[in-house]
Amino acid sequence: TWTPANMAEELVAQVREQVGESRALCALSGGVDSSVAGALVQKAIGDQLTCVFVDHGLLRDGEAEQVEKDFVTATGVDLVVIDAKEQFLTALAGVSDPEEKRKIIGREFIRVFEQAARDIVHDRGDEEHPVEFLVQGTLYPDVVESGGGAGAANIKSHHNVGGLPEDLKFSLVEPLKALFKDEVRQVGLQLGVPEGIVWRQPFPGPGLGIRIIGEVTAERLDILRAADKIAREELSAADLDRDIWQCPVVLLADIRSVGVQGDGRTYGHPIVLRPVSSEDAMTADWTRLPYDVLAKISNRITNEVPDVNRVVLDVTSKPPGTIEWE
Ligand code: XMP
Repeated sequence: TWTPANMAEELVAQVREQVGESRALCALSGGVDSSVAGALVQKAIGDQLTCVFVDHGLLRDGEAEQVEKDFVTATGVDLVVIDAKEQFLTALAGVSDPEEKRKIIGREFIRVFEQAARDIVHDRGDEEHPVEFLVQGTLYPDVVESGGGAGAANIKSHHNVGGLPEDLKFSLVEPLKALFKDEVRQVGLQLGVPEGIVWRQPFPGPGLGIRIIGEVTAERLDILRAADKIAREELSAADLDRDIWQCPVVLLADIRSVGVQGDGRTYGHPIVLRPVSSEDAMTADWTRLPYDVLAKISNRITNEVPDVNRVVLDVTSKPPGTIEWE
C-alpha cells in the first residue's frame, strides 16, 4: 500500500541508484517542488548534493530565510546562496512592460545560475566524482502539460530553470515526476521539510516583480512586501490558507488616489487583493472571502503600510482575467 513513508523510501533508493558516486546540483526556489526534490536527493546522496538558491530580491517577507535557515536546518543540505538582489534591480530599472520584466528576470536568473553551476562543477567535483546531475522538481502534471502543449504557456513567458549552455551538460534527476502535488506534500512532510514550505501556495518564479504594476524599485518592493505580509497573516489567522488557491497582492505603483488619514490629505497607492479558488490554475474564480477578514486586511494595510491609502478587491474570474496581473 501507498504510504508517504514507503514512497519516500523507494524514491530515495531510486535516486541513490541513478546518481551513484557522482555529484548533483539542485536549484531551490523556495517553492514546494524544488524543496521536496532537494530534500529527497539529500536523503539519498547526502553531501554529494549541492543546492543553489538565487536570491533575486523578489521574494515575499520571510521566504529567503525559510530556505536559508529553516530548510537547511531541517534537511542538512549543502547550500550555496547567491545574493543577486542588486543585479536584478539594476536589470529591471526603468522597465514597466510585463513581458519585458518576465524576460529580464528569466534571463538574469539563467545567468546567475549558470555561473553558480560552473563554480560548483569546478569546486565540488573531481574526475572520479564529477557534478553530473541536475535535480529538478518536475511533477506528473508538468510532464503531461509539456507533452500536451497547453496553450496557456503562450499567454505569459514562464520562467523555469532550463536551457543550460553546451559546457554544462547535466543528466536530469526528477524524483517527483510520477507524483501529484498532494503526494509531493506528503513526501515532503515525511522528509521533514518545514511546514511553511510544504503548504506554500503557488508563487510565480518572477515573484513580486510581476506584482508591481509599473517599474520595480527597492522602495516599491518594500511597500508590497509589507502589504503582502499582512494579507498572508490575516488569511492564516482566519484559517483560510487551504481554502484559497492563492491570493496575489498587487501594488498599483503608477496610480495614486486621494485619501484622508488623521487630519491630512494623502495621495497614495492602491493595493489590490486577488484571492482565487482553483483546481489547476488554468481556470479560476474569485474567492468570496468573509467581509470581516477583508475589513481586517484593509484596515491593517492602510494603517501600517506607508504610501498605501486604499485597498481594492479583484472580482474577476479566469478567464477573462489571469490570476496574476502581469
Ligand atoms: P496566470 O497569471 O497565468 O497564472 O493565471 C497561473 C498560475 O501560474 C503562476 N505563474 C507562474 N508560475 N512561473 C511560475 O512558476 C511564472 O513565470 C508564473 N507566472 C504565473 C501563477 O501564480 C498562477 O498560480
